[in-house]
Amino acid sequence: MPPVPVLTIDGPSGAGKGTVSRLVAGRLGWHYLDSGALYRAVGVAASWADLDLSDPAALVHCTFDTDIRFQDDGGSLRVIVNGTDATDELRLETTGTLASAIAAIPEVRAALKERQRAFRREPGLVADGRDMGTVIFPDATTKVFLTASAEERARRRHNQLKEKGVSVTFDGLLREILSRDARDAQRAVAPLKPADDAVLLDTTGLSIDEVVDRVLALVPARAD
Ligand code: C5P
Repeated sequence: MPPVPVLTIDGPSGAGKGTVSRLVAGRLGWHYLDSGALYRAVGVAASWADLDLSDPAALVHCTFDTDIRFQDDGGSLRVIVNGTDATDELRLETTGTLASAIAAIPEVRAALKERQRAFRREPGLVADGRDMGTVIFPDATTKVFLTASAEERARRRHNQLKEKGVSVTFDGLLREILSRDARDAQRAVAPLKPADDAVLLDTTGLSIDEVVDRVLALVPARAD
């Protein structure tokens, strides 16, 4: 039996990975792993439990103990953490920052490794994150690294939040994105970087549909 095909889509925050990965998974009829949601879910569970973020052992325990379920809600994904729907809290910038701090702890990453690999099921998987092609699925069939300028990423995020009625300043968002990128790229374990065999795709100035088409063109048709 050939291995289950995997398409990894890595890149910095705001490069459009989530939207593109979901659409590509839908077009291929494959499963979808939002690995960032796992780190965010652990962050939310840690904050609910009022854990000390400077205590790695407590955070590792929390990672093992946190029950995380994904529910398909007519195209969008709801994330249930320890039985509570945490979808809205998961999307907050503060949760992203919390996730990024927790994601720098090697034991937390190790604890999430097998959970992520379990998403690899027939007929295929689109895995979205920072280390999908480098660490979690090094044997992936196709690896893509999506980028966009920091200004473009902040602009997209700003528009998304405005649509949701959340008021944030563009400059604040840009600062937040730059500092999260720096932390993700500089951490000792699984830093954000393209796999050697990844295709780099700069999405600055491209529409979502154009990016989806370019990614789909990279996925080989299955012979079986
Ligand atoms: O992709 P998302 O913004 O939801 O990820 C939140 C944070 O989780 C990232 O800033 C990063 O620190 C961490 N993360 C990671 N490895 C992944 C996915 C996310 O370290 N595969």
